[in-house]
Amino acid sequence: VKKFARRHAEGGRKPAQTAVIGAGIMGGGIAYTTALRGTPVRMKDIAQGALDLGMGEARRQLAKQVESGRLAQEKADKVLAAITPQTDDSGFGEVELAVEAVVENLGVKHEVMAALQQALRPGTVLASNTSSLRIDDIAAPLPRPEDVAGLHFFNPVPVMPLVEVVRGSRSSAEAVATATAYASGLGKTPIVVKDCPGFLVNRILTPYIIAFCDLVAEGADYEQVDRAMEAFGWPMGPAYLEDVVGMDTGSHVIDVISAGYPGRMRPPERNAIRALVAAKRLGQKSGGGFYDYDAAGGKPKR
Ligand code: NAI
Repeated sequence: VKKFARRHAEGGRKPAQTAVIGAGIMGGGIAYTTALRGTPVRMKDIAQGALDLGMGEARRQLAKQVESGRLAQEKADKVLAAITPQTDDSGFGEVELAVEAVVENLGVKHEVMAALQQALRPGTVLASNTSSLRIDDIAAPLPRPEDVAGLHFFNPVPVMPLVEVVRGSRSSAEAVATATAYASGLGKTPIVVKDCPGFLVNRILTPYIIAFCDLVAEGADYEQVDRAMEAFGWPMGPAYLEDVVGMDTGSHVIDVISAGYPGRMRPPERNAIRALVAAKRLGQKSGGGFYDYDAAGGKPKR
């Protein structure tokens, strides 16, 4: 995989200035990981509260590393100073790669990315962290579709090694190479994938989550399913995984990916994930989903 990534990164240069748009679960993690690897990052959100949470989480992660002796306080201060939280586009003219990580909604992404391309210089890579939408659908109405590619990180970003670099039909070779070089520079393992619904990982994972919903609808206890899958060797069972992902995002991913493979995938008839969205139990980020969580998130109470 590493050799494959190197080939795609050829001609790509690790960006010196970056931006992340959306400071939620994913955007906050991407900004923190970028800063930790020594690259300055502008972190933009429309909500000051989201920026505060993102900075708070970065501070918490850094404090843990300092406490355990893995990081000097001086280095931790530098990492934090490399993240600039902002609600406007200041400094975007100097950015060489921007990652969009706003909500999983095509209309919102179009609006946000079209506005971003006004602020970014032509040739600046604008990568989407979408987990289910096609890059071609995202790029189609934008002024410079050739600058757009996918950069699909996994949750939690600082921990998960894989990154899917998605090549849309109009993505330039330079955009793909720069996105790959950026992911490699973060110490990740990038793979370049085709622009199909679910890319590689979620295309495999979605039928698993659908089967989990079917099991629950047939009367299985989600906690027992989690314990079984964890005993099988997975780091977390499907219910806990959806809590970490966020129920709104997870529900959307099932709908979009199953619609992309009619006859081969179908959304669950009785969908426990959608029911939790309706009940406003969005998972770890809202204090509860399948399980309940304390204020700092962390492990489920079970
Ligand atoms: P989230 O709900 O935690 O965060 C989204 C953030 O975007 C919020 O802070 C919101 O204030 C902000 N936002 C909304 N409109 C905005 C705008 N116009 N300008 C700037 N910021 C805006 O969502 P999450 O989970 O971080 O997902 C973000 C993207 O990452 C989605 O496309 C999702 O599919 C993808 N993704 C999510 C994963 C997960 O496990 N949650 C995994 C991989 C990808």
